[in-house]
Amino acid sequence: MELTRTISEVRSRIATIKGKAGSLGFVPTMGSLHEGHISLIKKSRDENKITTVSIFVNPTQFNERLDFESYPRNLAEDLEILENHRVDLVFAPPVEEIYAEPDNRVFDFGGLDSIMEGKHRPGHFNGVAQVVSRLFSIIEPDVAYFGEKDFQQIAIVRKMVRELKFPVRITGCPIIRDGDGLAMSSRNKLLSPAERISAARIPEALARAKEKAGKVPLDELIKGTLDYLNGDPNLEVEYFEIVNGRNLKPIQSWKDNGPFRGCIAVKAGRVRLIDNMDFSL
Ligand code: PAJ
Repeated sequence: MELTRTISEVRSRIATIKGKAGSLGFVPTMGSLHEGHISLIKKSRDENKITTVSIFVNPTQFNERLDFESYPRNLAEDLEILENHRVDLVFAPPVEEIYAEPDNRVFDFGGLDSIMEGKHRPGHFNGVAQVVSRLFSIIEPDVAYFGEKDFQQIAIVRKMVRELKFPVRITGCPIIRDGDGLAMSSRNKLLSPAERISAARIPEALARAKEKAGKVPLDELIKGTLDYLNGDPNLEVEYFEIVNGRNLKPIQSWKDNGPFRGCIAVKAGRVRLIDNMDFSL
């Protein structure tokens, strides 16, 4: 495995190892790696000749400086994990390498960015599109892997790829959960033991709601879920919406067209967690 820090280094390594026959798989991450990231890496290794992973905590997608600064970083541990999973190439640039020229581009996501995560984290998806597009221009992958844990992010990236005409296939991968059901996330490390116990109620509430999908009126189901989670003093729901899984628009009734997806964001103490589940009938 090789570690590269600069754009010219990673480009020249890719040019040397790629060759003509075989595809290049790419897994963009912000590091602090866990089984969720590893599942994407395994899929890329299964499907491609070469797998490249980037580790870059992207400042332009954070709404708050403090959140950016407190984001967990563990490069030494991450490199060990990547080595053990036989990743070919790692790109872990410093901020100045990616943003030597500031990125002032403003993307139009056709409304996708004004709902759910977009509404609650203004500018977040614009920052994601900035960094993912720069990474795609640098790495030039054939396939890139994204987790359904960030369900809306996949839709945003697909839109960006269509607009900018990147010759990249986007592959979505299922959510990996811990034993207690909590979706794996680098941010879980920031939870206190009590918050961690409370946070496990999020997937539990989603699973309960999923059971009731189509059987209980929509507004009743949403209110019941909000009340259940907000009843825990460690939790505060930011939003819980049941949307069409293709266009991410909130559904109005169970008679609407599926697939349905229950999407939630909850604050556990100061830590913001997101999750989602297939609610299709
Ligand atoms: P990060 O949060 O590090 O996640 C990197 C990738 O791992 C994303 O595609 C994310 O959806 C996926 N992932 C995280 N937790 C997962 C889980 N429990 N199960 C399955 N997949 C999971 O998402 C980002 O970084 C950034 O926004 C990035 C795309 C790298 C741009 O900066």
